[in-house]
Amino acid sequence: MEDIRLDSLEGVGPVTARKLTDAGVHNMMDLVVRGPVEISDITGMEKDSTEKLVNKARQYLADGGVLSQDFVSASDIYKRRQEIGKITTGTECLDTLFDGGIETQALTEVYGEFGCGKTQFCHTLCVMVQKSREEGGLGGGVLYMDSENTFRPERIVSIAKANGMDPQRVLDNIVVARAYNSSHQVLILEEAGAIIRESNIKLLVADSAVGLFRSEYLGRGTLSERQQRLNHFVHLLVRIAEAYNCAAVATNQVMSSPDVFFGDPTKPIGGNVVAHTSTYRIYFKKSGKKRIARMVDSPHHPEEEVIFGIGEAGVIDPEDPKAKKARKAKADPAPPTDGPGDATDAGTPDTGN
Ligand code: GTP
Ligand code: MG
Repeated sequence: MEDIRLDSLEGVGPVTARKLTDAGVHNMMDLVVRGPVEISDITGMEKDSTEKLVNKARQYLADGGVLSQDFVSASDIYKRRQEIGKITTGTECLDTLFDGGIETQALTEVYGEFGCGKTQFCHTLCVMVQKSREEGGLGGGVLYMDSENTFRPERIVSIAKANGMDPQRVLDNIVVARAYNSSHQVLILEEAGAIIRESNIKLLVADSAVGLFRSEYLGRGTLSERQQRLNHFVHLLVRIAEAYNCAAVATNQVMSSPDVFFGDPTKPIGGNVVAHTSTYRIYFKKSGKKRIARMVDSPHHPEEEVIFGIGEAGVIDPEDPKAKKARKAKADPAPPTDGPGDATDAGTPDTGN
């Protein structure tokens, strides 16, 4: 990426650069991601000046090909979309659901009740994103915003081992930011720009995105304030994912929704703010030992369901009953038949009845 330092921008002298840096805005990308209103709020600069500044930064980055131009042809958008990377989930079933994997330049929201595997899914992606492109990863690192204190390096180690990767190297490429309250969670994201570039971050995880907001803003009176702040957080997440060509994954809990009489009476918390910003929404559900994942909302995937499991290797494909049977048969070979060899059996119609 080319030079995006603040002082490369015409009109930014040492004083302005200092003011911005003190407020946590370290480069042009930060300017664009945060936007003029916020830059004005945090630096005390006039709105007129911050608007000019942000526009200049956007133009500079667009000229350098880092961001797309304001008016672009459909073919340019197409080209930008060609740069979208995908991270394999390490399973066939979930990759099918995601049509290849978790996309960059998008926010994927995973919601479901406790223990349905949201955190395990995030841990698995932390390892998968580090695989090479040929192997379904993006060869990049992770920024893991942990607001529930559920990040477990031991799980990363076991998932890495199961994938034949060096666990130490895999751990070294994950930056964990423990968020203590919702403002802190927002702050981490606001300051993430530098680390995303320096550490070649390709996956941002917010586990969970909503939990802290929910516990801090209790009661109806504070609902709109909560939504506003949550809205800010989620939009920031999307803008960063777009600007840096990273994948963003946010988890969300569910609440019972008494107004649903048929079907599953659970809805993601956070309401519409999160729903409308996420590009993809996946619902995880427990079903005995298995898990079900359903694509709930996507601009181009069909609404589909798949079954998956959780194991040493993170999220895993469910054991195929046929494969299980075959394995059992192999371990316990049947007496030889006097029919022709295996090769001629291919395509023989089922003679079972
Ligand atoms: P909340 O954060 O509480 O909302 O839940 P969650 O959706 O994040 O659940 P999480 O991903 O933590 O999933 C927990 C499930 O994963 C439990 O059912 C555990 O039994 C299972 N699990 C966690 N680690 C392992 C493991 O190493 N092996 C196996 N087989 N299962 C595991
Ligand atoms: Mg969890």
